[in-house]
Amino acid sequence: MAKVKVEYACTACGFSSPKWLGKCPDCGQWGSLVEEVAAAETKYRVASEGFPASKPVCLTEVTESASERARCGIAEFDRVMGGGVVPSSATLIGGDPGIGKSTVLLQVASGLAREGRPVLYVSGEESEAQVKLRASRLGVRGEGIFLLAETSVERVIAATSELSPFVLIVDSIQTMFTSDLPGAPGSVGQVRECAGRLVFYGKKAGVSVFLVGHVTKEGTIAGPRVLEHLVDTVLYFEGEKGHPYRILKAVKNRFGSTNEIGVFEMRATGLSEVADPSGLFLSERSGETSGTIVFPAVEGTRPLLVEVQALASQSFLAIPRRTTLGADTNRVVLLCAILEKKAGLSLYNQDIFVNVVGGISIDETAADLPLLCAVAGSYKDQVIPSGTAAFGEVGLGGEVRAVPMAESRLNEATKMGFTRVLLPASNALRLSAEFPLTLVPVHHVREALAQVGKK
Ligand SMILES: Nc1ncnc2c1ncn2[C@@H]1O[C@H](COP(=O)(O)OP(=O)(O)OP(=O)(O)O)[C@@H](O)[C@H]1O
Ligand SMILES: [Mg+2]
Repeated sequence: MAKVKVEYACTACGFSSPKWLGKCPDCGQWGSLVEEVAAAETKYRVASEGFPASKPVCLTEVTESASERARCGIAEFDRVMGGGVVPSSATLIGGDPGIGKSTVLLQVASGLAREGRPVLYVSGEESEAQVKLRASRLGVRGEGIFLLAETSVERVIAATSELSPFVLIVDSIQTMFTSDLPGAPGSVGQVRECAGRLVFYGKKAGVSVFLVGHVTKEGTIAGPRVLEHLVDTVLYFEGEKGHPYRILKAVKNRFGSTNEIGVFEMRATGLSEVADPSGLFLSERSGETSGTIVFPAVEGTRPLLVEVQALASQSFLAIPRRTTLGADTNRVVLLCAILEKKAGLSLYNQDIFVNVVGGISIDETAADLPLLCAVAGSYKDQVIPSGTAAFGEVGLGGEVRAVPMAESRLNEATKMGFTRVLLPASNALRLSAEFPLTLVPVHHVREALAQVGKK
């Protein structure tokens, strides 16, 4: 029996130390060192064991495989992946408990299997019967999908070698363990090692690997940060409590844009795609309230109309509140300062609440103008006509600045039946097409506020 000693590993960078430290000397993060059990002498095997040694290859001789992406038939998923699953790639998918990670992967597996690409679904959390129960509920028939309830990474790799599927799904990486390390499953060392082996195996054997990752209280994937570096693509599956919508986001993608989002609706029969998310997010809009306006956002390559709401109410606090959901609080504070200084609104005694409807977060600067219009609309108790949308960046001088992809935003607004759009004057000058909309070019926030309430 190997002698066991305790060491401390950094959850951010994997640095290990024989004693606990408040700050990681390697990456500088505070409070990131956690206790690990390490064997005094580990019989460590490198992940490359069993494969022939790699030789340097000239770049011109490397064959391209980018064009062979496998589509799973779920358009929202394929788009987030950058156009389909890249062979031999590794993808990590994280999300809150019960959000639907296993559901979406089973549906993806079904789509791939239908295209004649076999899938091995390894579940460390559920038995084969439980997975079968879910599959029946989702209407997944199961030809070409192989199940394995296993937590030993060595046995998973052995089963994969035997079956040689196109995709290996591991649900979840926190349940996998290797007997070469003494830590418990889910510990930093085990998660890093198991993920490293599976990813390496996938690349060498030509199997695409999907790893499900649990998330921590803070919302990041549990385990070492290196996990996100190890894989090619990191997806987050998110949703608001009480809402059936689920949003799949790529936060890292070596083969595609990271701004893409896929929108799904959770039903008893599984996740169904929402091909028209703008319609969904605007469906419960009531026309006659002050302080709301629609913002044509762009997520990746896709425009998406979202409703921005603000509420300004008299504050009885020494420091009035600035609370935001789905928008950056600092940005809202800055916009309030601009409204005070450049548009003469006295917000110093107002609590301001901002909300982006549908659990969407917006981080584009193009949201400045609609945020500002919503705050001013609520402060003045002015109803912005329901057919009005706005986008544009606002500078500290109160000037409205151009933003990218103006045409896509206008197209989406036209498609959803909007009649008036406030946009930066410099964008309006450079439009390459005609739009059946009343375009209101604005140079300054004062102009925007004067225009916004008009029919
Ligand atoms: N019969 C049902 N009808 C409607 N929705 C259901 C039904 N059964 C499950 N669900 C939905 O599926 C979700 C569970 O999905 P799933 O098991 O894929 O989540 P998960 O992210 O894999 O969770 P975990 O982290 O626990 O593995 C539930 O939260 C619920 O919303
Ligand atoms: Mg699950």
